[in-house]
Amino acid sequence: MSGTFFGIGVGPGDPELLTLKAIKTIADCDIIAVPDSGAPDQVALGIAHSYIGTKPVMLLDLPMTCDKVKLKEQHEIAAKSISKELDKNKNVGFLTIGDPMIFSTYNYLHKIISSHGYATKIIPGVTSFCAAAAALEQPLCESGETLHIIPANYDAKVALSLDGTKILMKSGKKLNEVIEMLREKGLNGKIAQKVGMDGQRLYQELSTDVESNYFSIIIVKD
Ligand SMILES: C[S@@+](CC[C@H](N)C(=O)[O-])C[C@H]1O[C@@H](n2cnc3c(N)ncnc32)[C@H](O)[C@@H]1O
Repeated sequence: MSGTFFGIGVGPGDPELLTLKAIKTIADCDIIAVPDSGAPDQVALGIAHSYIGTKPVMLLDLPMTCDKVKLKEQHEIAAKSISKELDKNKNVGFLTIGDPMIFSTYNYLHKIISSHGYATKIIPGVTSFCAAAAALEQPLCESGETLHIIPANYDAKVALSLDGTKILMKSGKKLNEVIEMLREKGLNGKIAQKVGMDGQRLYQELSTDVESNYFSIIIVKD
C-alpha cells in the first residue's frame, strides 16, 4: 500500500483564497513538498503556513533553469525522494502558487510519479490571473471573446497579434521590455503585481515606471 501524491493549488497569495479542499488536503497529508529554487517557492509555503502547522516540509532541489537535461535530471531526483515517502504509505502534498495546471513544476513530477503507478490527485487553486483580473476589476472575457495566456519570457510577438484578451505572465526581469513591445504594437494594458501579497501594486495603464517583479501580470484587453 502506498500513499497518494497531491498537487495542491494554494492560490495567488492571500491565505483566505485557499479552497476548503486545499486546506483539508493539506491536513490529510503527512508531508508537504515544495521546490527549493528560490524565494517564489517559499511564497507557496508562506501562503499555506497557518494550515501546515508542524507537518514536515520536504524541500526539493529544482533550480529554475532552461537547461532541459539538467531539469529532467532534477525532476527524476525529486520524484525519487517523493516516491520513497509514498512507499512508506505517506501522503505527500506538493504546493503550487495559484493552480497546479498553469505553469507549475508539479506537472513534471506528476508525469513521472503517475507513470510509476502511484495514486495522484490534483486540487485546483485560484489562478493568479483571475485574482489579478478581480483586483483590477477587469473582466477577462465576455460574450464571444477569447482569452489567451501568454508566457512573456518566450517570444510573445505572434501571440500579441491574436484577437481577444491577452494575459501576459512570467515577464520577470523583462517586464519593461514587454511593456515597450506592447506600446510599439499600439496596445494598452493593465498591470497587477504581487496580487494578494504585501506590497500589491495595481496599474490601470501601461507605465514605464513599473519595477520588475517575478509576481507580475499584464492584462491586454482589445
Ligand atoms: C510559474 S507561474 C505560476 C502560475 C500559477 N500556477 C497560477 O496558477 O497562477 C509564475 C507566474 O505567475 C504569475 N503570478 C503568480 N502569482 C502572482 C501574484 N500573486 N501576483 C501577480 N502575478 C502572479 C506571474 O506572472 C509569475 O511570473
